[in-house]
Amino acid sequence: MRCDTAALTPAQIGAIARRIDRSIVLVGLMGAGKSTVGRKLANLLQTDFIDADDAVEQAAAMTVSEIFERFGEPHFRDGERRVIARLIEERHGVIATGGGAFVEPRTRALILERTIAVYIDCDVATLVERTARRGHRPLLRNGNPAEILARLKREREPFYAEAPIRVASGSGPQHDTVLQIIEAIDQWL
Ligand code: S3P
Repeated sequence: MRCDTAALTPAQIGAIARRIDRSIVLVGLMGAGKSTVGRKLANLLQTDFIDADDAVEQAAAMTVSEIFERFGEPHFRDGERRVIARLIEERHGVIATGGGAFVEPRTRALILERTIAVYIDCDVATLVERTARRGHRPLLRNGNPAEILARLKREREPFYAEAPIRVASGSGPQHDTVLQIIEAIDQWL
């Protein structure tokens, strides 16, 4: 969806923000920009932002990589689901989730039922470029990141497509993505 976002004034954004009655949850692949977009979105809506991966790390007193290494992915997914459920319960304004969270059926059902789910879609080339900047993602360590990200996009796309709002985030300014999300939420509410 392409919107005339330049027309959104601070007063209009404020009016939309006042109508939002639940958390906004950002889903999408690693490198889609969920955290950066999420922070900017929360800032414009004058609400708080929380990153679910950070919350998982805090709860476990361990990095995501360490959890994967020591206990495996299923254990991580279980903890991730419980942490996301708590964050939704705490009613944070904007929550960025890790790329695989929305693929887990129970986490997806919870997000769809209780929050405004926004899929940040992104082309594989941009995902590869952004994820190459930092090497902390366990799923990209064993193999060619471009191939892994292309496969994950194919596999996960049908799940992400269940989010009622979808915006594209490419190499353009992320401020545009944020405004598109606000417009789309306004229409969806
Ligand atoms: C994962 C994405 C990561 C993190 C973990 C697994 C995934 O989060 O939760 O490494 O399965 O796509 P980001 O999407 O924030 O990188």
